[in-house]
Amino acid sequence: METLATKLISEIRAAGLKAPAKIMFGAGVSRQLAALAREMAGGQPVFIVTAPFLAPQIEPLLTMLPGELFARVEGEPTVALADAAAAQARRLRPGLVISFGGGSVMDTGKAVAALAVNPGSVRDYLEGLGTRTQLEAAPLPHIAVPTTAGTGAEATRNAVIAAPDAGVKRSMRFDGMLPAVALLDPALTCSVPRAATAAGGLDTLTQLIEVCISAKRKPAVTVLALQALRLVRAALPACCDEPQNLNARSALMLASFISGVGLANSGLAMAHGIAAALGALHAMPHGLACGILVPATLRYNRAACEPELAAALAAFLNGEGESVAALYECRRRPQAAATAADEVIATGLAEIEELQRRVGVPGDLRHLRLDEAALQQLAAGSMGSSMSGNPIPMTPELTLEFLRTIC
Ligand SMILES: [Fe+2]
Repeated sequence: METLATKLISEIRAAGLKAPAKIMFGAGVSRQLAALAREMAGGQPVFIVTAPFLAPQIEPLLTMLPGELFARVEGEPTVALADAAAAQARRLRPGLVISFGGGSVMDTGKAVAALAVNPGSVRDYLEGLGTRTQLEAAPLPHIAVPTTAGTGAEATRNAVIAAPDAGVKRSMRFDGMLPAVALLDPALTCSVPRAATAAGGLDTLTQLIEVCISAKRKPAVTVLALQALRLVRAALPACCDEPQNLNARSALMLASFISGVGLANSGLAMAHGIAAALGALHAMPHGLACGILVPATLRYNRAACEPELAAALAAFLNGEGESVAALYECRRRPQAAATAADEVIATGLAEIEELQRRVGVPGDLRHLRLDEAALQQLAAGSMGSSMSGNPIPMTPELTLEFLRTIC
């Protein structure tokens, strides 16, 4: 897996895609964290963001380096949580932020790296909510150390923050918020429980497919995403069934990272648009929401992105069915292309549904028992930045119509 990681990282650089300046991958690389942090902190203290249950794992770093711990990230970050972390960081005046945890922890870390040296509340910077559209000072350097595979947040420049008073989740997004270093150590993910592993893996899968079909897609991102998709089908169930399987954990962590690079450099689509609203309005964990929505949203979008969807699903099926190259070749022969695409899409979607069943994720939202008013609110709340990349241009009315089919 290290060889593939090296190949993909060199492709990221060659294509000039936005990604952390330093990317380290492999079991055990997190042992280099102290030395790296000392070098990057420039004699200043370090500010570590983590979750309460991960504190015992990362706290020993503070016996080697001066600094403080913010170990209060328990769910997806809110305005209040990010502001509390920022207040502590402003008092400390650190030279470096380290985030050690899942997507919520890394998003909090990205916001703190920016807010520690900039005025105001995180709410002031949220897309569609705040009025500040620029940072006055460049964010602090940030080392992101993911302990789950899923969001790829270590590779993105946005922090998703919930504003409960407005009933929405929105991004704070600036170029300088991209972590300087992504330290990808798959061994850290071996203790992630089954449900969280499944949800994270389905988020990765959704992100990898959506970057291929998005109206904002880019060829260099598609090439990377297709290679990462080949890893997911075998790795995800293996990670769930054999938590200590380091090969599977490595594959899923690499796929997750590539999905993050993908979304940072192109766009996503409808599953992520609706997932953001499900998180904000119904506290549904992001990975679970994506896992539920992916097959139905792909079926809905199919007519607008058939070749791209077929290529993504062919890669996911790992070479079974038509090869990606053959599918594109077929586009010059419409009937053969349609037949090949039909087969791959049908098999691919069935396989994703099988994966849902294996890892215990439902295929619709009926368990939420949403009434008409709740459906309308969900549709209206789904119109964020991810939805703007959907292959079929969406309105709240069209989204409502779609939601009625799965609620
Ligand atoms: Fe996601």
